[in-house]
Amino acid sequence: MSETLERWGSKRAFILAVTGAAVGLGNIWRFPYVAGENGGAAFLLIYVGFVLLLGIPVMMAEILIGRAGRRGPIQALGALAMDAGASANWRWLGIFGAFTVFCILSFYSVVSGWSIEFLVASVNGQFSGATAAEIGAGFDAFLASPGLLIFNHSLFLFMTMTVVAAGVSKGLERLNNLLMPLLYGLLLLLAGYAATTDGFSTALAWLFLPSFEALTPTVVLHAMGHAFFTLAVGACALMAYGAYMPEDQSLPKAAVAVAALDISVALLAGIAIFSVVFAQGMDPAEGPGLMFVTLPIAFAELPGGVVWLSVFFLLLLLATWTSAINLAEPMVVTLQGLGCRRSIATAIVALSVWLMGLLSAFSFSTLADFRPLFGRNVFELVSSIPPDVFLPLGGLMIAIFAAWVMPRTTAMQALGAGEGGYLLWRNVVRWVSIPLTFIVLLGGLL
Ligand code: TRP
Repeated sequence: MSETLERWGSKRAFILAVTGAAVGLGNIWRFPYVAGENGGAAFLLIYVGFVLLLGIPVMMAEILIGRAGRRGPIQALGALAMDAGASANWRWLGIFGAFTVFCILSFYSVVSGWSIEFLVASVNGQFSGATAAEIGAGFDAFLASPGLLIFNHSLFLFMTMTVVAAGVSKGLERLNNLLMPLLYGLLLLLAGYAATTDGFSTALAWLFLPSFEALTPTVVLHAMGHAFFTLAVGACALMAYGAYMPEDQSLPKAAVAVAALDISVALLAGIAIFSVVFAQGMDPAEGPGLMFVTLPIAFAELPGGVVWLSVFFLLLLLATWTSAINLAEPMVVTLQGLGCRRSIATAIVALSVWLMGLLSAFSFSTLADFRPLFGRNVFELVSSIPPDVFLPLGGLMIAIFAAWVMPRTTAMQALGAGEGGYLLWRNVVRWVSIPLTFIVLLGGLL
């Protein structure tokens, strides 16, 4: 088994890559609509709490394993488990992670395809002057056209896999270095614009003044699942990025920086979206269509709105692109570990994700009533169970492995924060993150 040789070119490159993985649909599409459905500020508060207590410590656990193993997740877990005198079955955690990212990427690519379609439509001026009814009907018609969904899904997956095929430094690192600052700049512009609309203060109040009436165990489970999803933690995908981490970087500092950037993007996006939604007196609990229906309607009526709408969809596309790359990387590097060339590994992953994605694309038309489990169709299944259940479960196992199974010296060195830092991290993971994840998972499932 060979060690991974590529490395991120700098500490900054590593932070940008992990931020690129973290910032995506989760922040811009999922956070606003899930918060919208679950009471706004109360959801935000719980989710931020989970990011601090579980997200950051487990993110460190996950990256630490990759850094100590210096190879694909499955191979790294197997090798580290053997070194620790534990069972080689820990490899199954990597396989479970690969299954999780496979499911997630399959719907992720389809939804990201929507943003391509809407970006093009918005730039072409198709929303200007359209009525609310027309825009709503347009979205429904779009979802009911599998051909269009598949075209955009294919295009997005192609964009993603081309970068992945180019490799860590020539592909992933270059793109993240370019896009992340651009994305943040665009988002600040957009939030600045939102501050000039009438809905701004309502949006702030709605996001920051909690009321806890809507709170149920399921909401808490959603908030936990969301914390994992938005930080890209729990599927061994950041483990793959950790394998390329520079030798002398402090992992806790990097993890805190990424989490802060990730939360700030969700907040800025939330402020931008809800200001516009409230300015038009629309419903924040619109659901998954929030961004694709409510926003075009709201922006269409505001002066200069169509330009801002285009900026918004561009932003979304850039954010999802760097996230999708992170979802693909662990599968590709695992196949490489089995002896495939990178180009072949990329092609295999692309083809299988593309096929799986078809099931999601058809879930809005032909397969709408194909409901294999829990009365949900394929899109509903892959967009809810992997984020809400698989990620916390994977995160739990990752935390147990790093904090209980890995020998102290190996873990301490990979954390890069000295002995005190290591013990603090280990205590938080052992006595807070692990029990809390377990309890919320169990409570939510029952
Ligand atoms: N964090 C991304 C988002 O918020 C999604 C994502 C990227 C992800 N890589 C991941 C989720 C790995 C789980 C695991 O859109």
